[in-house]
Amino acid sequence: MVDVREVIFPKYSSEVERELREYGINEVYSYGKVRLKDDIFVLGKGKSGIIALLDDKRVIKIRRTDSPKETMELEAKLQIMAYPASPKVYLYGKNFIVMEYINGHELSQNTPLNLKVDLLYRAKYLEDVKIEHHELSRPWKNVIVTPDRTYIIDYDSASIKEKAYNVTKILSSVFKNYELAQKYKRGEITLSEIVSTLLEASST
Ligand SMILES: Nc1ncnc2c1ncn2[C@@H]1O[C@H](COP(=O)(O)OP(=O)(O)O)[C@@H](O)[C@H]1O
Ligand SMILES: [Mg+2]
Repeated sequence: MVDVREVIFPKYSSEVERELREYGINEVYSYGKVRLKDDIFVLGKGKSGIIALLDDKRVIKIRRTDSPKETMELEAKLQIMAYPASPKVYLYGKNFIVMEYINGHELSQNTPLNLKVDLLYRAKYLEDVKIEHHELSRPWKNVIVTPDRTYIIDYDSASIKEKAYNVTKILSSVFKNYELAQKYKRGEITLSEIVSTLLEASST
């Protein structure tokens, strides 16, 4: 394990360190595919946060000190609303979110059809709770896939919308089916009709 100050990035911040210690977060695992510096490894490094493993079930997303957002509280609240399409949030503050560790892979064109369909239902769930994700037109970095389901992550640029669109973005980006996307957007077809169409097309 390494001291939590090692994963405050790119510049050390005493304010971030103080908040983490206040919540009893003192150490994280140096574990993952992303090398942060020297011999410090993490699970992820995005534009707004660093994701490090806390224990076998939980990760922490720590606000990057160069993030344009001053607080992660809104992101955490949106992610809580998005559950269970999202990883479960356990604890959050201005500079961090502690959430469920999803031990999976990035979404890819090789992801099995049943999981791509699962993703459509997760995207629909966000619409039902009025969250528009905004980064699902490039879902490859914003979806984690495990053998049994998909998770939509990163609510940093999500927002509340009376009419939220997420399914159309998955239909266009993952399924390359712009026709179904348009029909769905115009309210001419339901998600279950879409899924039947996609499954039929794949079996012929
Ligand atoms: N709950 C999680 N479990 C496992 N890995 C995660 C989890 N959340 C994020 N990651 C990893 O960290 C990366 C960056 O996270 P993300 O929330 O997209 O950060 P940013 O807002 O900075 O873009 C993701 O692409 C993913 O690989
Ligand atoms: Mg991201």
